[in-house]
Amino acid sequence: MSDAPASGNKPYDLVVRHARVATASDVFETDIGIRDGRIAALARDLPPGAEEIDAAGRWVLPGGVDAHCHLAQKTGDNSVMADDFLSGTRSAACGGTTTVIPFAAQLKGESLAQAVRDYHAVADGKACIDYAFHMIVSDATAQVTQEELPALIGQGYTSFKIYMTYDDLKLNDRQILDVLDTARRHGAMTMVHAESSDCIAWLADRMLAEGLQAPPYHALSRPPVVEREATHRAISLAELLDTPILIVHVSGPEAIEQIRWAQTRGLKIYAETCPQYLFLTAADLGGDALHGAKCICSPPPRDAAAHEAVWNALANGTFQVFSSDHAPFRFDGEGGKKPQGDDTPFNHVPNGIPGLETRLALLFSEGVLEGRLDINTFVALTATQPAKLYGLAPRKGTIAIGADADIVVWDTGLPRVVRNADLHHNVDYTPYEGRTVRAWPGITLSRGRVVYRDGEFVGEAGHGRFLPCERPLAARPRPARHRRAPWLDVLSRVAPDTANDGATP
Ligand code: URP
Ligand code: ZN
Ligand code: ZN
Repeated sequence: MSDAPASGNKPYDLVVRHARVATASDVFETDIGIRDGRIAALARDLPPGAEEIDAAGRWVLPGGVDAHCHLAQKTGDNSVMADDFLSGTRSAACGGTTTVIPFAAQLKGESLAQAVRDYHAVADGKACIDYAFHMIVSDATAQVTQEELPALIGQGYTSFKIYMTYDDLKLNDRQILDVLDTARRHGAMTMVHAESSDCIAWLADRMLAEGLQAPPYHALSRPPVVEREATHRAISLAELLDTPILIVHVSGPEAIEQIRWAQTRGLKIYAETCPQYLFLTAADLGGDALHGAKCICSPPPRDAAAHEAVWNALANGTFQVFSSDHAPFRFDGEGGKKPQGDDTPFNHVPNGIPGLETRLALLFSEGVLEGRLDINTFVALTATQPAKLYGLAPRKGTIAIGADADIVVWDTGLPRVVRNADLHHNVDYTPYEGRTVRAWPGITLSRGRVVYRDGEFVGEAGHGRFLPCERPLAARPRPARHRRAPWLDVLSRVAPDTANDGATP
């Protein structure tokens, strides 16, 4: 329906009636008229559509934008991501997400442009909802930072992630400065995985030497101080070049304090957190038969006090983005969490946990319905701000005339028990098994087409389209007249104020 003109004499392909809409700023009652996959009208008592959905006063929100998830990503070892663009986007749609931004990963020695081409081949024809690409820059050669990256940014790949840990991905400080310099001059958003590699290796080596190899030692080898130190260092490098960065998957108060400190000083430092830092603790890495490997991710989940700090930082604006960091490794079988069976040491367990489908329901339930977040903040964190920060607004992330009709009608007030058997990903577990939520999407629309209804996936592979991203305004450095970095003024390569004209407002 979304690709066809409005049928007969009906002005809309679809009308969603009696919607209680929330955007990042407002709440209003309206009908939503959808034509050609876009929102064409917001008003009461719209004329009939070729199809009708009665929202009956339920919450109707923009479809989620999951700005951090891993699908069919090359790993550089023998681990295999169990979700491709079909199962991953199917699962996302069933959880109320209508745009995903996974990562085209460059392995060391590889061309970044080739990594992006390869990733398109992996995605083509498979996605059920729209998608963009971040890139992962793991080999910051001059060819990559001075030629490939600028060209790719111009082609709509306007964000990339860099790592301060993991031997096969990490950049040293000088390499980080090189990529930040490119981001600054070309208006791209740099996402940073902030954990201190040497501290982790030092701790992990000593634990392993003493035979301490069970999953809980993963958390003990990555304590909050290693995240705090790397977060502070990343902020300092960004300040040195006066370049905006976004710290991803922040786990607790130590890193949050650094981010808040930088924001208060006027630096453009953005931050993301994820469900695992609200709903899991380091204790979840315990248990028998390597069960805790299911919850191994980096940074690791912390404790109840950290949950409190993360909730506060979601509510007070320190975090702009709430993503899943979906990393789909199966617990059983080849390529999964246990390459050496039940004897797998923690440093051989692939990092990351699944969460594309549960991200929104968990936050709606425990955030909005428990009164920790207002509905506008929920929409901002899960849809509007990620769309803006990564150059997809105003087409994605909001309910407005002209925006894509990516819309979710929510069921609230239910008790629903999360069961992996009901999820649509290709992973054999969810870390949230048995948890009760009180909100779940009833209907998900992707560009005006129903892709999920009442527990059933009804979309199709190939409906999802690739979205080239604009250069986000948020990635634009402060104008020279507002910065306090005289060293930048003497560098001839520093861009003038107009460097990023054309950025998404
Ligand atoms: O442990 C995690 N977070 N795995 C996914 C990859 C990453 O660093 O985001
Ligand atoms: Zn990461
Ligand atoms: Zn990740």
